Amino acid sequence: PQTVLAALVIGYLLGSIPFGLLLTRMAGLGDVRNIGSGNIGATNVLRTGHKGLAAATLLLDAFKGTAAVLIVAHFFGEDAGVLAGFAAFIGHIFPVWIGFKGGKGVATYLGILLGLAPLMALIFAIIWLVIAFTTRYSSLSALVATLVIPVVLWILGVDKIAAVMALMTVISWYKHRANIARLTAGTEGKIGAKG
Ligand code: G3P
Repeated sequence: PQTVLAALVIGYLLGSIPFGLLLTRMAGLGDVRNIGSGNIGATNVLRTGHKGLAAATLLLDAFKGTAAVLIVAHFFGEDAGVLAGFAAFIGHIFPVWIGFKGGKGVATYLGILLGLAPLMALIFAIIWLVIAFTTRYSSLSALVATLVIPVVLWILGVDKIAAVMALMTVISWYKHRANIARLTAGTEGKIGAKG
């Protein structure tokens, strides 16, 4: 029980750091939640026009997930690492510090995957990039990549990780519901377009 609690607390605390919000605020750009989609993720940080900040948001939001998995796995074992990854995801999506209104979880999903199954993170990145380059829709790229990953893991027989990633996919899709509506209506913003 102590191991479970430690995994949940460490994972949640790391995951709940809202890097997009912090970085844009530190750069004097105001509140990123007032622009574009209102999201705190890298895609929306890019709508401020600051590519470096968007890249930093992507990396930090991803690596907090990787860190949660690897740190907790190192001290408490692999199962605890899986739990910590999930807790980091929940922390990112529902951060207590900003009224439980966090991001959509894409970068953090990728980072957690990097910690749990590095080759799958590569596949995620390839799928995301191919769709992003062809359609310029960040959300669509994420929706497809997060759908494919649990299926591939399941086919490969990595059932536990497949189940956890599938749960994260469902949560991320739920957080993308406004994006899905815009994609369907043909009004979704493209990558790089200012909001
Ligand atoms: O990573 C989130 C992305 O899939 C969509 O972001 O700001 O366009 O809603 P946004």
